[in-house]
Amino acid sequence: THILVLHGPNLNLLGTREPGHYGRHTLAAIDAGLQAQAAAWGWQVESVQSNAEHVLIDAIHRAPDTGCQYIIINPAAFTHTSVALRDALAAVQIPFIEVHLSNIHAREPFRHHSYFSDLAMGVISGLGADGYLLALQAIHRRLESA
Ligand code: DQA
Repeated sequence: THILVLHGPNLNLLGTREPGHYGRHTLAAIDAGLQAQAAAWGWQVESVQSNAEHVLIDAIHRAPDTGCQYIIINPAAFTHTSVALRDALAAVQIPFIEVHLSNIHAREPFRHHSYFSDLAMGVISGLGADGYLLALQAIHRRLESA
């Protein structure tokens, strides 16, 4: 099983970036946790972080060729702005889970709308770094019961 994990803009700064909202985990620690869980199942996780919309879009376009079965994505600020990233996910038709570290509904009104949620298999928001592992576990449970 191959899973693509996409991290949007500014998430490379996790650990020091607004820890009140995003916690103290670094992106490397989050990716390492996902890798450890995936390895235990014999799964492959590929993580991509970019501050550039087109890099994330290109990674989504490549996903079908890599045999990617599910995508876990935190679009970060692109959540609230990017029709292009939404359209890329719709184009490849790979089921995805949308993850946010913070609870976007408890924050500024401009964060309440997501261009992704209505297409997502599910949305996890507000559970911090655990959200990524919970997303991976949800995919595992789905595949195990299939
Ligand atoms: C975020 C929430 C977004 O509103 C914000 O722009 C981010 C991170 C989160 O993980 O809580 O960069 O997606």
